Amino acid sequence: MKLSIQHLLGLKDVSQNDITLILDTADNFYEVLQREIKVVPTLRGKTVVNLFYENSTRTRLSFELAEKRLSASPINFSSSTSSVKKGETLRDTIRNIEAMKIDMVVVRHSSPGVPLFLTKCTDAVIVNAGDGAHEHPTQSLLDMMTIRRKAGKLAGLKVSIIGDILHSRVARSNAWAMTTMGMDVTLCGPPTLLPQHPETLGVTVTDNIQQALCDADIIMLLRLQLERQAAGLFPSIREYRERYGLDLEKLEMAPKDAIIMHPGPINRGIELASRVADGERSVILDQVTNGVAVRMAVLYLLGGGE
Ligand code: CP
Repeated sequence: MKLSIQHLLGLKDVSQNDITLILDTADNFYEVLQREIKVVPTLRGKTVVNLFYENSTRTRLSFELAEKRLSASPINFSSSTSSVKKGETLRDTIRNIEAMKIDMVVVRHSSPGVPLFLTKCTDAVIVNAGDGAHEHPTQSLLDMMTIRRKAGKLAGLKVSIIGDILHSRVARSNAWAMTTMGMDVTLCGPPTLLPQHPETLGVTVTDNIQQALCDADIIMLLRLQLERQAAGLFPSIREYRERYGLDLEKLEMAPKDAIIMHPGPINRGIELASRVADGERSVILDQVTNGVAVRMAVLYLLGGGE
């Protein structure tokens, strides 16, 4: 089976068949990762550049680990220690890296559209590891893998994504992909942190957390992106926590078997209380574990692995 896409730029236009193929392949790699020897030879001889212009812990390390588990050769680029600091353009940077004979590029950048731009500058396969507030497709794929492994299905499940939706590439990728997979998606947050045209996302939007929690199968909290709040989009962190922060008291409004997710990093005590983040209904660390398998699947399927 092959994907119908050549690059993974986002999930907006990715089909149900392609998403299912990635998730099925990730489940197979999950089994590989339980073995004593966790390495397979499928991408031997391929070189993957991890081109990170923004900070990352989970995405960067799990891509590098996935590349090593697939026997590819990872090369790590960090803009803060590169000639970007001397003024080199993105186009020149990628053209020079390509001249060293590489096969795939995993890119994170603060500007939406950079992964698409790179497809015009290089013949390498491009994988989006987060571009501004646009998309974070592998995060959404690992979220869906985690839900599917817990619930045994995706279609028909209700997911409520709560928090700073406006600045969230995770919310956008999940809104598109989860609706493609037949899930019922609700986005919840202060009116100033909600999307202006929710109809383009095919989701329900509310500023009422009780409405978002009362019948959710999955509750996903998002990080309040404090670095982007200069415009006074909500009155205070205290007020935000009181209205939208998930603690044990608000969790009482949700069904008893609803699971708790967060893409990380968590602002503990703001969008999520530690007793919920570390509680028995939390699958936050499962998300991180599954991220390696999902990234192995994406690299394998796009990299022409055998
Ligand atoms: N979820 C996520 O993208 O985390 P990092 O920013 O640490 O990669």
